[in-house]
Amino acid sequence: MTKTWWKSSIVYQIYPRSFKDTTGNGIGDLYGIIEKLDYIQSLGVDIIWLCPVYESPNDDNGYDISDYRKISEEFGGDVAFDQLLAEMHKRGLKLMMDLVANHSSDEHPWFQQAKKGKDNPYHDYYIWKAGSPDTPPNNWQSVFNGSTWEWNAETEEYYLHLYTRKQPDLNWENPQLRKEIYAIIDFWFAKGVDGFRMDVISLISKRTEYKDVPKDMSFIDVMEKVYANGPKIHTYLKEMNQEVLSKYDIVTVGEGPGVNLEHGPRYVSDQEKELNMVFHFDHLTLDFGPDGKYDPVPVDFIRFKAIFSQWDEALGTTGWNSIFLGNHDFSRIVSRFGNDGEYREKSAKLLATVLMTLKGTPYIYQGDEIGMTNVSHDHIDAYDDVETRNAWAAAEAAGKDMDQFLKAVHWQSRDNARTPLQWSDAKNAGFSQHTPWIPVNENYAQINVDAAEKDPNSILHYYRKIIALRKAHPTLIYGEYKDLLPADPHLYCYKRWDQEATFLVIHNFSDTPTNWKLTEENHSLIQSNYSEVLATELSPWESRIYSLD
Ligand code: GLC
Repeated sequence: MTKTWWKSSIVYQIYPRSFKDTTGNGIGDLYGIIEKLDYIQSLGVDIIWLCPVYESPNDDNGYDISDYRKISEEFGGDVAFDQLLAEMHKRGLKLMMDLVANHSSDEHPWFQQAKKGKDNPYHDYYIWKAGSPDTPPNNWQSVFNGSTWEWNAETEEYYLHLYTRKQPDLNWENPQLRKEIYAIIDFWFAKGVDGFRMDVISLISKRTEYKDVPKDMSFIDVMEKVYANGPKIHTYLKEMNQEVLSKYDIVTVGEGPGVNLEHGPRYVSDQEKELNMVFHFDHLTLDFGPDGKYDPVPVDFIRFKAIFSQWDEALGTTGWNSIFLGNHDFSRIVSRFGNDGEYREKSAKLLATVLMTLKGTPYIYQGDEIGMTNVSHDHIDAYDDVETRNAWAAAEAAGKDMDQFLKAVHWQSRDNARTPLQWSDAKNAGFSQHTPWIPVNENYAQINVDAAEKDPNSILHYYRKIIALRKAHPTLIYGEYKDLLPADPHLYCYKRWDQEATFLVIHNFSDTPTNWKLTEENHSLIQSNYSEVLATELSPWESRIYSLD
């Protein structure tokens, strides 16, 4: 196992719109991040992953880019960005940007040109198919509902968009387009950026026959077998690596919808020379029911554990995992995998321990370090996210039970993770002087950074402790991993070991006390989220780390 800085680093993810507003327009900005850099540094993290901050009409909050080389004025523009990067580097923090290269905005000059005529030089930067206005080329459905094909009257063709119609897919078959993307990456590396998270990178190579999807195929299968892992994906990633990534000492993590155990190792193993890590979604789609994300079923805990073990094994010693439980596209981790009521504090600490003791680079999403929770608005109008709103409209059109659907929205909406960061109990949670672009979670008076700073027993202080613990013990970073109780319905118990040390980590993922006794004789308890530790029982959501001799 080779050791490198990005393996031993911890990443903190920022969703800039919701982090901190300094200009008083209700939208977070880069000056807000600069203001909070000392706070971020105090956690002990090494890298900040910044969700997209480029110019964008914001149909999908920045995941629709209209200028890849310009920072949006809304966020403070290029001046604020240069200042942020300098301030971060001064503190030894690295910056990972978000590259959205599967699609651009329809307002990008390339698309504005492309749609004008078939002989326009930019036409081939996108994916077009002949047809008539009432018959799309195939039955593909967008991730955000509706056909993936949009009619362009000017050329009498359809263009492909796997996401919204304002996010036309780029044509990676075109070598000139690929060069443009590599030049963009190079532009940011030359500026001093330390890495990229690559948005839906598994989707860039299309199955160009554009065959219909079988009617009964689940969304997860469509992703894996139809949209992702296309025939040229590894050719493109190798080319990107050779042309630009390999020239810098940077970190890459590819977002990989549809990347499963079978495909994962090829994206990240050392020999392949493509990416450093991927985000797979095997554990985050466990609650998708027969009708997908908004038809949720309970998380199967045994499968949840098995997924971590199987990925660990599949990546072996030549690949490296990313450890995350949520981000800006999923619910709050304490609401989804913990208990955000009675055991919020305990379960948030347990989840922090999971993040910091599994093998792989841990990713913390903003606000999870204070145990922020989901929201449950009683009206769809309080939701902003294009995915949630489109899913709602589709459910209404299909005549679904909308009270039931609202419950699914409470559980699954991406807006759960996008409410403003709760800094204090001041108006608007101290996020902004102005009404925020999205409502704050009503619980901000109790759950906020100020309160957490003052409480020595807070989730925030626990994060600092557990981060420091991981850093103090390379075994927790590089050591081997084995699940010792894979079939237990409540306990997740694993060992991490190498020549230096052996650790046993045990978590009780449940609201009930659970019998358990340590059998190893020589041990010392080095961390727990309870002050009193019982000899034969784990309390609800208890988490412990032992060092074994
Ligand atoms: C990724 C992003 C998500 C976005 C989508 C389309 O999944 O994380 O926020 O909507 O790609 O770009």
